[in-house]
Amino acid sequence: MPGTMEPINIGLMGLGTVGGGVAAALSNNAEEIQRKTGRTVCLRRALVRDAGKTREPAPPAGVLTTNPEDILADPEIHVVVEVMGGDSPAGEYLERALAGGKHVVTANKEVMARRGASLLALAQSQSVNLLFEASAGGGIPIVGCLMSQLLANDIRSIRSIINGTTNYILTRMARSQTPFAEALSEAQSQGYAEADPTNDVEGIDAAYKLSVLGSLAFHQSIPHEAIHTEGISRLGPEDFRYAAELGYAIKSLAIAAAQPDGTVQARVHPALVPEDHLLAKVDGVYNAVEVTGDLCGQIILHGQGAGRDATTSAVMGDILNVVRFIDSAGPPPLLPVPNGRGHQVGNSIRPIDELSSAYYLRLTCADQAGVLAQIARLLGDGNISIATVIQKDTDPGSGTAQLVITTYPSREADVQTALAAVAKLGVVVSVDNLIRIEQ
Ligand SMILES: NC(=O)c1ccc[n+]([C@@H]2O[C@H](COP(=O)([O-])OP(=O)(O)OC[C@H]3O[C@@H](n4cnc5c(N)ncnc54)[C@H](OP(=O)(O)O)[C@@H]3O)[C@@H](O)[C@H]2O)c1
Repeated sequence: MPGTMEPINIGLMGLGTVGGGVAAALSNNAEEIQRKTGRTVCLRRALVRDAGKTREPAPPAGVLTTNPEDILADPEIHVVVEVMGGDSPAGEYLERALAGGKHVVTANKEVMARRGASLLALAQSQSVNLLFEASAGGGIPIVGCLMSQLLANDIRSIRSIINGTTNYILTRMARSQTPFAEALSEAQSQGYAEADPTNDVEGIDAAYKLSVLGSLAFHQSIPHEAIHTEGISRLGPEDFRYAAELGYAIKSLAIAAAQPDGTVQARVHPALVPEDHLLAKVDGVYNAVEVTGDLCGQIILHGQGAGRDATTSAVMGDILNVVRFIDSAGPPPLLPVPNGRGHQVGNSIRPIDELSSAYYLRLTCADQAGVLAQIARLLGDGNISIATVIQKDTDPGSGTAQLVITTYPSREADVQTALAAVAKLGVVVSVDNLIRIEQ
């Protein structure tokens, strides 16, 4: 490690949206960083794919490289800041950096979801920091909160809106009855959605982030593959209309909740949220994370979950914490607390079949007498109690009507089984949607 008067050198892996923001902050805020940490913090190298690309502002001469060894094998680089994205090669670079005794800051949710447990164990064994505030929630300081300020709590649940792209699309659909495809292409033209939006709209991005947050909250590994994940593409404008009539907003929620038997339920899916709940009011690209703990009660953090400046705030906070650690008398690195069973637990995730929830069901049925009675009988046979029924939007041309049913809390497996039977009724044209209701 550097002597007390020497600068701390940063090896930046990636100089795109976030990397550009971090490089600019290191340069523009150099004096302030010096004042706050007592150290000069220098950008020594920045790894990119294409060194010939025009970059604004142009990085200082000699900083750009396309060779990761210029960072990984440089003993003068003390902190590796990974803002490249993707699992590989970023994951391998981080392993090399930690194994070489370098501190690591990353914004990469995929790498933390896939390899977080082993990377953290490696960091621990090397007595270096691995900080990852920007990997979930962008500019919202939720990772640090779970790792330190809320550590005394027995966390009961996390309910969050952690994908700005989907929240933007859902907000558009709710406000102006825009169909999904149109809202998506609008999000793309505004720069809020990528050309390939799969990870966002199918809930994969949110599952990576929930894996990171859930693992911290419940002190065990929450593998992203074990998280029940549904996207938003099945939602139609009519769902937003009917939900509003029932007093709900529709949000894509990422939820992890401790169960009485010690398991954790982890799921990402659209949900009906009572319109007076704070999560229902989170609009556009904003994110929010609600944490419920035994001591803190319910806390909601709200803010920008992505974007250059907000994400730079999180990455820079981690960098400054690492610098302060380097100069401290040597308290242990700030690493998540394991649950004592190691980080390899993955079998304590409760299957979605065992969820107990209220449901919103939308069906297209023949517009004739006796239809509801047939459906109600099948639901009743499956132990599902109907809370409300509304018949909507009849289509005289096809002789069909839309039926919207809400249920009292029921077991997911029972609902799925009953719905499969309902779908086979001659009077049912299609089961169009099932949305869980969050109370
Ligand atoms: N953007 C956000 O708002 C945001 C928010 C929170 C977290 N994050 C996370 O931050 C990370 C970076 O996101 P970003 O939006 O800044 O990405 P980006 O704009 O696509 O930038 C990626 C950078 O990494 C470089 N790079 C990618 N693969 C590389 C490779 N194999 N070898 C060398 N360099 C490589 C690229 O080089 P070139 O410049 O030569 O192409 C580029 O400079 C991701 O993990 C993302 O999930 C982003």
